[in-house]
Amino acid sequence: MTTKNYIESSFCQEDETFEVPLRPQGLAEFAGQDSIRERLEVMIGAAKQRNEVLGHCLFSGPPGLGKTTLANILAKAMGTNIIITSGPLIEKAGDLAGVLTNLKEGDILFIDELHRLHSNVEEYLYPPMEDFVLDLMIDKGANARSIQLKLPKFTLVGATTRTGMITSPLRSRFAFSARLDYYEPQVLEQILNRTARILNMNVEKDGVAEIARRSRGTPRIANHLLRWVRDYAQMRANNKISQAVVNKALEMLAIDQLGFDETDKRILEIIIDHYDGGPVGLNTLAVAIGEDKNTLEEVHEPYLIMQGFIKRTPRGRVATDSAYKHLGKSKGRMENS
Ligand SMILES: Nc1ncnc2c1ncn2[C@@H]1O[C@H](COP(=O)(O)OP(=O)(O)OP(=O)(O)O)[C@@H](O)[C@H]1O
Ligand SMILES: [Mg+2]
Repeated sequence: MTTKNYIESSFCQEDETFEVPLRPQGLAEFAGQDSIRERLEVMIGAAKQRNEVLGHCLFSGPPGLGKTTLANILAKAMGTNIIITSGPLIEKAGDLAGVLTNLKEGDILFIDELHRLHSNVEEYLYPPMEDFVLDLMIDKGANARSIQLKLPKFTLVGATTRTGMITSPLRSRFAFSARLDYYEPQVLEQILNRTARILNMNVEKDGVAEIARRSRGTPRIANHLLRWVRDYAQMRANNKISQAVVNKALEMLAIDQLGFDETDKRILEIIIDHYDGGPVGLNTLAVAIGEDKNTLEEVHEPYLIMQGFIKRTPRGRVATDSAYKHLGKSKGRMENS
């Protein structure tokens, strides 16, 4: 298994059998994102006291930070069903009508990848969100007329990795909208300790801290790395998970001190070596690396930007001084090779 496959598989194919048991069941178990958690606590408490349906919620942020987890937590907290679908699965207005008319009072409709909802479907979603009614066109041509169906009150929970791609009319219809941030290493340590307890593992404190530091601020990656370290320790270190063992295990995955993987390093190298530090356009970069443009934009770039290794400029991506330093390169084309 290559490194690239390892890290990206944690994003691309959700490993349900591994992830589901680790998913926090309530807000109290959900670590970090304090302000989001507190706002949700207030909203849930108030809705329950008034015996009302929860307002529509939108969660955005990079993969693996807890959007789906929060949607499930909301359903549990409200004691309702969650119906899960995804933007691209709702191809036409009829598909949406099918989903909406099957909802029961108080249900949570979770639409993942909301930014990939077709625009013709999106408009059909406004009246149900605002007034819990659905406008349907029946018949065609001269006989065409629209009828209005009353829907049960429901809560729409949307998730997106791309807030910028959610239109403002849609965004404005959410009562609650929050962007999840990358997690601090200390919070990832809490998450890892919880995972270790669930998996019945013994991990030394330094080992946990090392994994947390290298998890790109992402709980999903932290859990996946812990799983890998467990395998490694079982085969190579008598199940002892110390900092030194973690270092060796992660070295095998070519994950560096900052949690960068081969693709991250390739991105920096290409900008620096082939484009003299940039600017270079995202499409060009994607072709040069042989990586999908969306993966670059949604998975790799946000973390590199957050860490201050690349900057986005109107003309393209630029490597910062930190990037040169991290790769041990100096500025100026010839000196680097
Ligand atoms: N705050 C948290 N506390 C503890 N564990 C968390 C937290 N956030 C996420 N996790 C863990 O990380 C895993 C991934 O989270 P989740 O599936 O909710 O991410 P996501 O934001 O929906 O990602 P994607 O955009 O890929 O759908 C979960 O299975 C859960 O175990
Ligand atoms: Mg998700």
